Amino acid sequence: MKPNVLPVRIYGDETLIKISEHVEEINDELLEFIADLKETMYIKDGVGLAAPQVGVLKRIFVIDTEFARTNKKNPIVFINPEITQKDGIFIYEEGCLSLPGIFETVRRFENITVKAKNEKWQDFEMKVSDYVAVVIQHEFDHLNGVLFIDHLNRFKKIKISPILKRLKMTTDSEGINVDEYLIDNRRKR
Ligand code: NI
Repeated sequence: MKPNVLPVRIYGDETLIKISEHVEEINDELLEFIADLKETMYIKDGVGLAAPQVGVLKRIFVIDTEFARTNKKNPIVFINPEITQKDGIFIYEEGCLSLPGIFETVRRFENITVKAKNEKWQDFEMKVSDYVAVVIQHEFDHLNGVLFIDHLNRFKKIKISPILKRLKMTTDSEGINVDEYLIDNRRKR
């Protein structure tokens, strides 16, 4: 079956600040959802996408940190991920499909070890650094209702507050934002 592109929830939607639930088992319905999640990530040009960003409060995210460079799809699915080791400091400019128009540097761990299950319900472990570690920490945060803007200092929070206010105002009860604003904001960047 052809995967669907799911609407991405925008800041202002309550789903984005809720804690996602542990996944108990893999089944056909979930596999279809994961296929949709991947498709949505590629269509929206994301390097990662977490289930709550499409309104599903399950501990699942997908990343592909290579696609932009190689143009070859190599998605990695994380189910019930845990970050088991972290150290170092890495500062990188982040953005988020749920926060259009906002790009700010965030301080993260430089090296992490992440354990998760894949779509075949097999355990796997990855030790990653730098950019890939940033993407995983960002997506992992989504599963706990945390957005990258929550990591910003007071000064940066004040700077972005007008954009946040406007996003919140223009996001409807389904978490969908008006397209005109998004296009306008992209242009500004
Ligand atoms: Ni995000």
